[in-house]
Amino acid sequence: MIVAANRGPIRLTEEGWTPAVGGLATALLPVLMEQGGVWVAMRDPDDETDLPLCQDYPEENPRLDVRRVPLSREELVNYYYGMANRVLWPNAHYFIEHMALDPAFYTDYERVNRRFAEAVLEEAAPGDLIWVQDYHLMRAPAFIRQQQPESVIGHFWHIPWPAMEVFRVLPRSRALLEGLLGCDVVGFHVEEYVENFLESARVLLGATVRGNCVEWEGRQVRVEAHPIGINVAGFEEMAALEETQAEAAAMRDELDVEFLVVGIDRLDYTKGILSRLLAFEAFLEEYPTYHKRIAFYQVATPSRTEVPSYQQLKREVDEAVGRINGAFSQDAWVPVHYRYRTYTQQELCAFYRAADVALLTPLRDGMNLVAQEFVAANDDGALILSELTGAAYLLTEALQVNPYDQQALVAVLKEALEMPLEEKRQRLAGLKRKVAELDVHHWADAFLASLQKATDSRQLGEPENAVL
Ligand code: G6P
Repeated sequence: MIVAANRGPIRLTEEGWTPAVGGLATALLPVLMEQGGVWVAMRDPDDETDLPLCQDYPEENPRLDVRRVPLSREELVNYYYGMANRVLWPNAHYFIEHMALDPAFYTDYERVNRRFAEAVLEEAAPGDLIWVQDYHLMRAPAFIRQQQPESVIGHFWHIPWPAMEVFRVLPRSRALLEGLLGCDVVGFHVEEYVENFLESARVLLGATVRGNCVEWEGRQVRVEAHPIGINVAGFEEMAALEETQAEAAAMRDELDVEFLVVGIDRLDYTKGILSRLLAFEAFLEEYPTYHKRIAFYQVATPSRTEVPSYQQLKREVDEAVGRINGAFSQDAWVPVHYRYRTYTQQELCAFYRAADVALLTPLRDGMNLVAQEFVAANDDGALILSELTGAAYLLTEALQVNPYDQQALVAVLKEALEMPLEEKRQRLAGLKRKVAELDVHHWADAFLASLQKATDSRQLGEPENAVL
């Protein structure tokens, strides 16, 4: 198997090379290690470690080749910060006002996608499955298909696919769609995104859509929902560690409040951190009886710090935290605790365990894995989840809320804080069952099975969708 993704699967730590943190590496490294394979990723020109272009992993008993596509500083700016993060990301999350349109972004995006495709083609043997990841690499599948028409190619899109009317705002929307239609299988988290994609192909390209298939250039492209999960066993283990429990207890001691509410996100305007803070401010105004009894702990991980919208958000969040604490703090009590830094997964587990309520209210999110992590790590808390996330389709026992509705946010926070223990446990038990079913290994297996099916039917010379 060959995986192509913007980011690589391993990182250099004090203990040497270890798997990268995050769902994708957790899910795909074991598969690649078992079958042998290649992972193609960018080489970040800002990385000071001078990473090799080809690297065997693990060093002693190599099972995997990591192949890096070197980018110039300018390409990084145009392809990654520009096209990926200032054009595609805001568009997919319905934040058209955050889009920045510069023709150089697209030119370098195209160039870098072509180089990823070339690297994949150099590594691919006949019959290999090629699995491309996310919005950084929309054009690569069509380039691969052009050069090697027999390739078996899948793509998983990890963020929302917006309504067709929003997607069509993108300059070059048709070329971007055609890029993905180079695949045999395109995967999304939930049916809503599948429907939006099919509609985009039908309206913008005039493609014939039958059921979940797009007919394109004499091929069938299957479009399927495969919701991604977390490494459930890993999180449960981390949550059970003595160290984690001790950190959670120490946090509660230190905060010295009856109720702890947590929010954990990358610092990104899609995550709704600012409106969440404003809702907490409104809650404190409306319910003085909670003063000195509640703390809201917001962790914001630095992300895409070169993008102006992210810099501006950071200023706005800093200001809101200062204003709320300035207005409401009394004696030793500080209502908002805000940390702008990266934590390890184990440290995050301590937050999840310590919390009474997880307040996860993105304005739009493809899935939201933090909600799943909280469910796996916590025993008797309440989950408040934005209804504008992919996770909301699956985690139906959560308290769901429209993150744009401040009154509703205040009301649902009060409801969560006052929910009887028995009800919290019942809801959490249902959520834990769902999260266990969604497990990231299940996600990888299901997507790969679908891709394998595409290969098998092609080898048999069958029309891929005989039922149609
Ligand atoms: C989202 C995307 C991922 C991306 C991650 C972190 O979850 O779907 O592809 O890796 O954000 O963003 P970054 O820009 O730091 O890779």
